[in-house]
Amino acid sequence: MASTGAAAPSGGMADVPENANQHCPGTSSEQAGKSAACAGCPNQSICATAPKGPDPDLAAIAARMSRVKHKLLVLSGKGGVGKSTVSAQLAFALARRGYEVGLLDIDICGPSVPKMLGLEGQEIHSSGAGWSPVYVEDNLAVMSIGFMLPNPDEAVIWRGPRKNGLIKQFLKDVDWGELDYLVVDAPPGTSDEHITITQCLQGAAAGSGGGSGGGTAAVIVTTPQDVAIIDVRKEVNFCRKVGLPVLGVVENMAGLVLPAERAAFSAVRASSSTSQQEQQQEEEEDVTAAVQALLAERFPGVQLRLRAEVFREGGGAARMCADMGVPLLGRLPLDPGLGAAADAGRSVLPEAKDEAKEGGAGAGAGAGAKGGLEAVAPQACIAPLMAIVGKVVEQTAGADAGADGKASKAAQ
Ligand SMILES: Nc1ncnc2c1ncn2[C@@H]1O[C@H](COP(=O)(O)OP(=O)(O)OP(=O)(O)O)[C@@H](O)[C@H]1O
Ligand SMILES: [Mg+2]
Repeated sequence: MASTGAAAPSGGMADVPENANQHCPGTSSEQAGKSAACAGCPNQSICATAPKGPDPDLAAIAARMSRVKHKLLVLSGKGGVGKSTVSAQLAFALARRGYEVGLLDIDICGPSVPKMLGLEGQEIHSSGAGWSPVYVEDNLAVMSIGFMLPNPDEAVIWRGPRKNGLIKQFLKDVDWGELDYLVVDAPPGTSDEHITITQCLQGAAAGSGGGSGGGTAAVIVTTPQDVAIIDVRKEVNFCRKVGLPVLGVVENMAGLVLPAERAAFSAVRASSSTSQQEQQQEEEEDVTAAVQALLAERFPGVQLRLRAEVFREGGGAARMCADMGVPLLGRLPLDPGLGAAADAGRSVLPEAKDEAKEGGAGAGAGAGAKGGLEAVAPQACIAPLMAIVGKVVEQTAGADAGADGKASKAAQ
């Protein structure tokens, strides 16, 4: 399969880029880049020089991926909405349920996975079986370009073909072993990385008789804001075009929830002056202590939670899901405890075995070590996160749990 840079394949014809000329012979054709129809096509030069015919890597990818039951691509059209956070916490939670889990970071230019898994500074080792992933737990294996960089501040300035080559290596050269789930954390958008991983997984599945999907599906992450949802609609359409089933959508940062003890209050008094400039210089007095004392007096011994719709009220993601006919997996609040868990490289679930992360940045950063947030109340994100994980399991492993004995794990 010839790489075609940023061009997405059009629906139905996997090797015809979306921006190709009419009568495109297909990127894998011997005529690619040479036929009369190629004149003026933006892909002409790359098609003319790229190797033709079936991708020789597909057989090796198929061999590795045939041992991975479910591949979950965590995608979003928008950056910064929580893809890496959702990927990391999904991987932790699935591993906690007893599944064999891999987490693959294909965000080549901005890998967050080493940090979010508490694995900064770890390196990859290779053996006869291939590259060994880095293990957080016995059943949670991780791979990222972050493990290959000489220092975490190193910039990766790669064009598409080089990124695509590394993604293929992650699929064919990493000794993933038998996995129930391979969670893939992707960069934002619908670009080279997304096309490559989708084509590789689908091509490998088709080659090994695994059908078009081959156990590959997308989990799409959005925030409630229109700017995110507009881009996420494009991501859903990308999935449709490339034939990637959408398992569902996670609405992240859906309202702020935090222990009331963490809230600060201020009394704001407008300036009495009528001058516009002075009105903007309002007086603000910190009254946190007084308000907290009142709350403690009114609700003694009760842990109060503060909730606020930060971005937008009214279920923007739910409406988008209904419009586009894709399931909503759940809504995760903005929870400082979840941000702290991501920064500390650990699971937000209470029984996280931080001590198991030998040498990781998260080691020793257990509950209570990060500002005491966890000590005051169970994290507000835990129940919705577990509900999302439950739905993912139900829609994937649920079907085969009875057959392969994983039902008892899922029930844990
Ligand atoms: N629900 C949440 N509550 C609190 N903090 C969150 C939540 N979701 C994400 N964050 C924080 O927001 C920041 C961005 O999240 P993250 O890196 O997961 O986004 P992303 O979509 O992967 O970004 P990129 O597009 O750059 O890959 C991180 O610091 C993360 O800890
Ligand atoms: Mg990310």
